[in-house]
Amino acid sequence: MQNSTESKIALVTGAAGVLGIAVTKAFLDKGMHVVLMDIDQARLQLIQGDYPEGKTTAAACNIADPEDVSRAFTGIKEAVGHIDILVNNAGILSNNKVEATSVEEWVKVMSVNLNGIFYISKLVIPGMKKRGWGRIINTSSLAAKTGGITAGTAYSTSKGAVNSLTFSLAAELAEYGITVNSIAPAYVRTPMVTAQLSKSQRQELLKKIPVHRLCEPEEFAHVVCFLADDMAGFITGEVIDQNGGLHFD
Ligand SMILES: NC(=O)c1ccc[n+]([C@@H]2O[C@H](COP(=O)([O-])OP(=O)(O)OC[C@H]3O[C@@H](n4cnc5c(N)ncnc54)[C@H](O)[C@@H]3O)[C@@H](O)[C@H]2O)c1
Repeated sequence: MQNSTESKIALVTGAAGVLGIAVTKAFLDKGMHVVLMDIDQARLQLIQGDYPEGKTTAAACNIADPEDVSRAFTGIKEAVGHIDILVNNAGILSNNKVEATSVEEWVKVMSVNLNGIFYISKLVIPGMKKRGWGRIINTSSLAAKTGGITAGTAYSTSKGAVNSLTFSLAAELAEYGITVNSIAPAYVRTPMVTAQLSKSQRQELLKKIPVHRLCEPEEFAHVVCFLADDMAGFITGEVIDQNGGLHFD
């Protein structure tokens, strides 16, 4: 085994979002260097000011555009050398069910939630293989397993594909010391969830969730840290449910 995560370099996509920020903070607390990737350059710059100087590298990029991802990755390699831990967390929500989903919306959701993971993983994997160690952690969703309680068809399908990609990469990369897992959260206390609910809808939802509360972003970050740890090296191809008891399998 290698030493603990302390000296590692992590790349977090969707780093300007609520879960990306929680993961970044948890990684920084562990002493890691974190590459912050997000399409929202202005917000990236803003949040980077809150982190300890020299401990993060901003990489503005549209993960749905393979050329932009390639350009950003060249810059990342120049800046930090390599990536040990990749957290594929960027994602967009769509609540439209099939008939209300336009072709453009379908393609966009797939491009960000699925293709983006493929583009960035493809570039990061060779370095992980060379060093014989790596962690890839994908953000799926409960919607992948339920068909989407509130989430729409494109979103639920994209997250199902994230699970399949997790299984494929886990099988391909196990022998190189690289684990690939995903986390399937539901109802984390983020604008992605709260912004779309009225007060009464929120109360109804809380009644339905067996633990009667939303998941905190820090709880999600805790699971990411668990999977990133050296001691989780025997876990690969797993989808960890984080849904407050809404769904068992
Ligand atoms: N919030 C929840 O309850 C919940 C539940 C299940 C799954 N998820 C998943 O967790 C992940 C993070 O969600 P969040 O709640 O933090 O959302 P968020 O909207 O706060 O963050 C998402 C981030 O991704 C970035 N992003 C969007 N498109 C991008 C692109 N093309 N290229 C690069 N960056 C892009 C956004 O700018 C944003 O900063 C998503 O994959 C989401 O599907 C969230």
